[in-house]
Amino acid sequence: MTEDTDRLKRDAARAALEEVRDGMVLGLGTGSTVAHFLELLGAALADGDLTEVKGVPSSVRTGRESRAAGIPLVTLDDVQTLDLTVDGADEVSPELDLIKGMGGALLREKMVAQASRRFVVIADEGKAVERLGLRSPLPVEVVDWGWQVHARWLEARGADVRLRQKEDLPFRSDNGNFILDCVFPDGLPDPTGLAEDLRHRAGVVVTGLFLGMADRALLAGPDGVRSLERDR
Ligand code: 5RP
Repeated sequence: MTEDTDRLKRDAARAALEEVRDGMVLGLGTGSTVAHFLELLGAALADGDLTEVKGVPSSVRTGRESRAAGIPLVTLDDVQTLDLTVDGADEVSPELDLIKGMGGALLREKMVAQASRRFVVIADEGKAVERLGLRSPLPVEVVDWGWQVHARWLEARGADVRLRQKEDLPFRSDNGNFILDCVFPDGLPDPTGLAEDLRHRAGVVVTGLFLGMADRALLAGPDGVRSLERDR
């Protein structure tokens, strides 16, 4: 990541902080953009600019980063409904549909976002795409038993499928599952249909397609932060 991209990520994170109010329970996403948000939120709490804010982390990583930033944490079981989730994305379409999960936290990220009244996405402009699947692989989280059957099914739908690796071993999510990274050479012509088909397959835990979920995307470019809003 270049220094410039990192600066843009921080700009997007700073813009999202403006949505946070005293007393809110926040869903805390995962990734390098969210890491900026956690630092800025921690600083605002330390300075007394915000008070009584708590967060539900969407990954072991975010839990660790939140504690380092001094953000009080609770679990999803403790709170059940959240005021606002702030998370990054790997792709953002003009309709505010997303691909997420390159950081491996897609299951908990989706659970946290679905439990939230509002979901705000933060990213640098480079994540904006005209069609999902053009820039990022689609991560699909599957149980390890029989994972190849899903890989073959996805390949039959035109994907180049790779089992995600870490240090020469299959990567495991925080929930112990495998992730299939699926490259669709021409992007995804029908993300809704694919998401629906995958939802019905036993052994598929969750996909990185976050469709119709985000309320707002804050996309930072060299000329400032562009806000995309969903009409509800
Ligand atoms: C993690 C995610 C991240 O939000 C996504 O990968 C973006 O990460 P980054 O902010 O590091 O670019 O979905 O599972």
